[in-house]
Amino acid sequence: MPTVYVETYGCQMNVADTDMVVGLLERAGYARTTDPSSADVILINTCAVRERAVERVRGRASTLARYKSTGRRVVLGITGCMAEHLRGDLREQAPYVDLVVGPDSYRRLPEHIEQARAGGSVQDTALDAHETYEGLDAWRAGGGGVTGHVAIQRGCDRFCAFCVVPFTRGRERATAPEEILRQVRGMAASGFREVQLLGQTVNAYSAVESEREVGFAELLRRVSTVEGIERIRFVSPYPLGFTAEVIAAMAELPKVCKHVHLPLQSASDSVLARMKRGYAFAEYRQLVHHLRAAMPDIGITTDFLVGFSGESDAEFSETLAALAELRFDNAFMFAYSERKGTLAARTLPDDVPAGVKQQRLARVIEDQRRITAEIYAQQVGSRQRVLLESPSRRSLAELLGRTDAFRPVIVSAGPGVTVGGLIEVIIDRSGPGTLYGRPLHPAGAP
Ligand code: F3S
Repeated sequence: MPTVYVETYGCQMNVADTDMVVGLLERAGYARTTDPSSADVILINTCAVRERAVERVRGRASTLARYKSTGRRVVLGITGCMAEHLRGDLREQAPYVDLVVGPDSYRRLPEHIEQARAGGSVQDTALDAHETYEGLDAWRAGGGGVTGHVAIQRGCDRFCAFCVVPFTRGRERATAPEEILRQVRGMAASGFREVQLLGQTVNAYSAVESEREVGFAELLRRVSTVEGIERIRFVSPYPLGFTAEVIAAMAELPKVCKHVHLPLQSASDSVLARMKRGYAFAEYRQLVHHLRAAMPDIGITTDFLVGFSGESDAEFSETLAALAELRFDNAFMFAYSERKGTLAARTLPDDVPAGVKQQRLARVIEDQRRITAEIYAQQVGSRQRVLLESPSRRSLAELLGRTDAFRPVIVSAGPGVTVGGLIEVIIDRSGPGTLYGRPLHPAGAP
C-alpha cells in the first residue's frame, strides 16, 4: 500500500483540512505514515498569512525534496494557502515540487497524486465558489479522538486590507446544517467528546434551509442536541455580526464553551479604518462588555497585529491601553508583513521600520504575558471542569486538558484520569501560561 506523509502549518482550518485530505487518501488506498523518509507521497499543507510562515515552508520543502533522490519515485506536493497564493510562482521557485494544489481542489487530490506518481506534475489552484467540501469526512482519518473539527463555513468576504485569506480561500460559503449535523453525529459515534466548529468568520454562518435562514445561534442549538458530544467550541468569530442571539445561545447552552477568540488587531480607530476592519474600538469594547455581562467567567482571547502601515507611536499606545483595559486571557501577537495581492500591498506603504515593529511586538507580548499570568493566578483555588486532551509535552505521567474557558490545565494521570475524560479539578497553582490541577472526582470514581 503506498504511504503518505503530511506536515501541517497554519490555523485550525488547515489542521482540519489535513485530516480531511488524509481521510480522502485513505479511502483511495493510501496509508498514513509519520516517517517522511519512507513515504511515497509527501505533502506540506501550508499557510500564507505571514511571510515568515512561507519562508519556513520553503526551507522545509527543499529539505524534504532530498527524499526524491533515493531512487524511488517520491511525489512532493504543496497544498493549502501558500499553494493558492503563489500558484505557478511556486513551481518556478521550487521546480522539485510535483504538486501545487489549493484548498478548493482537494477533492481531486487522489487523481492528481496518481498523475504525479506516473511522472507528471500538476497545478490545480482554481478557486471554486460551489465547492462546499460535502461528503469529505475528516474524522475517519484518525478513527476517533477527543476533539474533532467541522468546517461549517469556508472563505471570507471581509477583505481586511492586510489579509490574504479571501485570496487563498475564496468567497464565503456555508455548509448545509444537515451536513454539519451528520458530521457531528459521526464524530460522536466515533467517540469524540468535543467538536470545534470552524469558519473564517464563523459567527456570520448563514444557510438557507427549506426557504428559511439558519443562522449561527440556531446552528449552536442544533449541534447541542447531539448526544455524546459534551463540548462545543468555535473559531474564529469576527467582531461584527456577533448578535445578541449568539450571545444568548452561548450563555444558555451548557455544552457551548464559555470562550471566544475575538481578533481585535488594533485599538486605534485610524489604524482599524486603514485595515478596513469595519468597526471602531468602542464597538469592540461594547461587545466584550456584553459577552462578560452574559457570561462572567468567559475567557476572551484575541489577535494583535502591530506595525501596520503608518502606525504611529500614539496609535500603538491606544492598543497598549486597550490591552490593559480589556485584560484578555491571551493573544496571538504578530508584526505586520505585507502580503502580495492584498489591498494594503497595493495601496499602502509598509513603512514602519522593522526594528520598530519588533519593539512594539516585544512590548505587547510582555504586557499580555503579565496579564495572562495574573488572570491564571486568580484561578488558583477554583473548581473547574476539564476535558483531558492528550499527554502533556513534559511527561507521559501528566495529562493536558482545557477548562471551559480554554485555559490549559496539567493534571497527573491515574485511575479514572485518562485522555478523553471530562473531570472536575481544583486548581492548585498556576504558571505563566498554564494551570495545574488536582482531580476531584475522577470519572468512574464514587
Ligand atoms: Fe494561514 Fe490559510 Fe489559515 S493563510 S491562517 S492556513 S486560512
